[in-house]
Amino acid sequence: MSIAASISDYRLLAKKRLPRQLFDYIDGGSYQEQTLAENSNAFDELKLRQKVLRDVSNIDLSSSLLGTKASMPMAMAPVGLAGSFAHRGEVQALKSAEQANIPFCLSTVSICSMEEIANQASASFWYQLYMIRDRNVVKNLINRAKAVGCDTLIFTVDLPFPGARYRDSRNGLSGSNSLATKFSRLFDFVSHPKWLWDVGITGKPLVFGNLVDEVPNAKSMDDLQGWLISQFDPTTSWEDLAWVREQWSGKLIVKGIMDPEDAQQAVKVGVDGIIVSNHGGRQLDSVPASLAALPDIIQIVNGACNVLLDGGIRSGLDVVKAMGMGADGTLIGRPWVYGLGARGEQGVTDVLEIMRDEMRIGMALTGHTNFDSISQDIFC
Ligand code: FNR
Repeated sequence: MSIAASISDYRLLAKKRLPRQLFDYIDGGSYQEQTLAENSNAFDELKLRQKVLRDVSNIDLSSSLLGTKASMPMAMAPVGLAGSFAHRGEVQALKSAEQANIPFCLSTVSICSMEEIANQASASFWYQLYMIRDRNVVKNLINRAKAVGCDTLIFTVDLPFPGARYRDSRNGLSGSNSLATKFSRLFDFVSHPKWLWDVGITGKPLVFGNLVDEVPNAKSMDDLQGWLISQFDPTTSWEDLAWVREQWSGKLIVKGIMDPEDAQQAVKVGVDGIIVSNHGGRQLDSVPASLAALPDIIQIVNGACNVLLDGGIRSGLDVVKAMGMGADGTLIGRPWVYGLGARGEQGVTDVLEIMRDEMRIGMALTGHTNFDSISQDIFC
């Protein structure tokens, strides 16, 4: 039984339970946060056409996300630092994903390493890769992902430089760190004693688990963060995507496509899927909602690969809307992380179940019993 009824309830719970710097890191976007707001507004603006008196007793939400069977058309998007939102957070999130039978994607910059996740996993999970300057590190990450049995690689391409997230700079999570900021961060931690115990004290090691052994002489989080910032590679180009394609024979999804020409180019390189995404409004502010970019991309891709969507999905109804707009599936970022910050594994499970229920009613009252029959006729 959920203690909260909707995703926004879990957001508020996470706000209460997490140190402010972590909540803001999750909740915030870049610059004026216009795209962050746009992502959700675009869903709100789409109105559904209610249909009644169709036998909707047997609703089947199951889907296939690039060959991965899922109980609904939704995967958990890669989210960095999730292991600092709850005790070994990515492990807890993986367990919820497995229980709900949807794909879980581990971020390059997770706290738990892919080996720690693999030890706890009962099936394959997805791994997300950032291109970094040292290609040997990239090769190692790819080989490690193969060795632990990941079958799908998400290659994120919208981070040649990290977007400016002003909440993070204000909170001292990025940028310069004066003594006063350090003191206020410490105060933020100690004023959340439950989090401090669960994560800050008993949840260690709190480092980038996938990277810590790749970077000699960088064992603390500060060292690793410094290394990472210097390693995001703005020279990354289409040749690099082709290079990743050569290295990875499993399913390859490119994440961060917002432009039809870019989508066409990705198809030429031979990706299996595209995620239409603006990184949840955390990179280039002022770009349109990812939902707004979807139709032109679907049109130009014309079935040559799968087209998934993320950004702004805050309910199961939004998933139904994305599918109605022609997406082959969706990913959620903040919703699962709000659940994790609010109540750990149980919170993620609650969020997924809330969204599943919302999806079911969305299907029933638009007169559909499975996603194969969904199209734009669900909209007014
Ligand atoms: C992200 N996202 C992200 N993407 C990625 O490819 N690698 C990463 O490490 C992260 N890290 C990350 C941290 C946090 C706190 C958030 C909120 C997001 C982006 C993520 O995968 C996804 O694209 C967005 O979260 C989708 O938008 P919503 O669902 O959060 O609105």
